[in-house]
Amino acid sequence: MTVRKITTVGDEVLRQKAREIEPTEFGTPELQRLASDMIDTMTKANGVGIAAPQVGESLRLFIIDTTDGPAALANPVITPRSKKTTVDTEGCLSCPGQEVAVTRFQKISVHAKTLDGGSVNFDAEDFLSRVLQHELDHLDGILIIDKE
Ligand code: NI
Repeated sequence: MTVRKITTVGDEVLRQKAREIEPTEFGTPELQRLASDMIDTMTKANGVGIAAPQVGESLRLFIIDTTDGPAALANPVITPRSKKTTVDTEGCLSCPGQEVAVTRFQKISVHAKTLDGGSVNFDAEDFLSRVLQHELDHLDGILIIDKE
C-alpha cells in the first residue's frame, strides 16, 4: 500500500498536457505499480477518481471508482453521444475546499486501454460520465477552477 502525495493547484504537473502511454509500457510492473499507488491514494482520500498528474506523473492514465471496484484507463478518448449536457457541483482532490458547478456531456462513449494494453470500449451516462470527463480534463491540464 503506497499512498502518494496529491499534487494541488500551483503544481506545474497539473497544468501540463500528459503524454500517451507507449506500447512498450503496457504490461510492465512500473505501470502496474503506478496504477496501484493511484488506487491506494484515491481510496485513502475518499475520491471517486484520480489522474496520474495528481500523483505527479504526466501520463495519460486515470483510475475511476466503479460499482465493480477501481478501474484503470490508459490513453482514454471520450466522444459525446449527444449534445445534451448537465450541470452539477464537482470537487477535486487537487483543488481542496473548492466546489464548482461544471457543465458536462450527459452521455459519452469511452475508448481506452487497460494496463495490459487491451482495448476497452464502453458507454457511460450521468455521474460516471461526469467523473470520466473530469479525469480526462486532468490529462489535458484542465482543472475545475478553470470552469468557474
Ligand atoms: Ni480532480
